[in-house]
Amino acid sequence: MNLGISDRVAVVTGASSGIGYAIAEEFLANGAKVVLVARRKDRLQTAENTFHKNFKSGIISIAVDVTEPDSVQRILDKTLDTFGPPEILVNNAGRAQAGGLLSSTEEDWEQMTAVKLTSMRRMCKATIPYMQEKGWGRIVNMSSIGGTYPNPKLFISHVLSAAINNLSKALALEVAADNILVNTIGVGAVKTENWKNNMIPFIRKTTPEFAGISDEELLARVSAKCTPVKHPGAPEDIASLTAYLCSARNNFVTGDTINASGGADRFM
Ligand SMILES: NC(=O)c1ccc[n+]([C@@H]2O[C@H](COP(=O)([O-])OP(=O)(O)OC[C@H]3O[C@@H](n4cnc5c(N)ncnc54)[C@H](OP(=O)(O)O)[C@@H]3O)[C@@H](O)[C@H]2O)c1
Repeated sequence: MNLGISDRVAVVTGASSGIGYAIAEEFLANGAKVVLVARRKDRLQTAENTFHKNFKSGIISIAVDVTEPDSVQRILDKTLDTFGPPEILVNNAGRAQAGGLLSSTEEDWEQMTAVKLTSMRRMCKATIPYMQEKGWGRIVNMSSIGGTYPNPKLFISHVLSAAINNLSKALALEVAADNILVNTIGVGAVKTENWKNNMIPFIRKTTPEFAGISDEELLARVSAKCTPVKHPGAPEDIASLTAYLCSARNNFVTGDTINASGGADRFM
């Protein structure tokens, strides 16, 4: 399928690894110009170098923390200077916060809200005027299946996922007549560093029967138990769906949360 996004300008947050990296790669493979955003400069530079080797399209990166209030302006300034106005936005930066309400701290709540929700609101608000001027825009906000099927073991992540779903829905209705389509992907268990760093340690702590088995085996067993397709997702599974939603082929899907979870209605 020709996605029709050649030369479109795409900003992808959280693009140095996992799902964001795969989305950037998919956009580049379809000829889009891509702005990679993440905090750690070294990993971002490695991603940019690899993409430069493999693709002819324009690629730039900007090392910012999207929770910083001035990050949006810095991303926009560099995008406008190099490629022109943003036409595609993927708000993907973030991570999971395992644990229930009672074990969570004020800091956990503040940090997660800042990265998952506040940064999305700011990025959408700042980029939409450029999309309105163009008369074309596509936005995907990364959420989780917990936005539809909340799990108390991921209290903060799943409360925020529901908020992301509604942010996207409300925004989609506000800008639908401007040919700007806004959707959310409810991500299930996808094998990335996020899983390794934030989910696996929690599962080990709360499920003693997993002691002594490798991370690989643990993920395989959790997936077999909770995911009807019996395996975790790959970043590319989310990237191909994102690419379609952000493409010229999508003219009718907006305001929706599309769950990509191997049929699962829970994480663990
Ligand atoms: N993997 C899953 O099973 C799963 C399930 C549900 C939802 N999700 C969501 O999918 C998204 C991508 O997750 P992933 O699994 O691909 O994780 P990942 O491999 O850990 O990638 C996260 C990316 O976000 C960047 N990032 C994190 N905090 C940031 C910040 N404050 N400012 C700028 N960049 C930031 C990271 O780079 P730096 O650390 O260098 O900034 C990295 O590039 C996240 O929003 C996550 O909540 C994932």
